[in-house]
Amino acid sequence: MDYPILSKRIMTDEKGPDLFRARAEAERRGVGDYSRHIFICTGPDCCTPEEGETAWLHLKRRVGELNKRDGSLPIYRTKVGCLRICETGPVAVIYPEGRWYGGLCPEQLERVIAEDLSGGQAVKDLLIGENPLSN
Ligand code: FES
Repeated sequence: MDYPILSKRIMTDEKGPDLFRARAEAERRGVGDYSRHIFICTGPDCCTPEEGETAWLHLKRRVGELNKRDGSLPIYRTKVGCLRICETGPVAVIYPEGRWYGGLCPEQLERVIAEDLSGGQAVKDLLIGENPLSN
């Protein structure tokens, strides 16, 4: 990645880390504009790495499609190594609603994408927990 105008300094002596490059990358990625964030675990304990990667690639593509819709608020998606459930994955959580889902093989993941990420409604039969952070 090329940051031609950015400082080459990584750490300062007295002020701590120089966050200029990280802030530029966060801005480039739209941090500050997202309405929701989904984290999906790609295993290896709740699902196989292959199942996790399949789920991640599907989620990445579909959220990209949703984010191109006119008038929709952007959704951020992130793959993670573990969400500490480690059972019946892939496991995912959507914020700010704090909806935790399990068993997200392709058919179930598509339901979460269509009904929750796109439609705003919880997929109750796939919920494994709730912890809203909006209050
Ligand atoms: S490995 Fe997926 S939740 Fe722990």
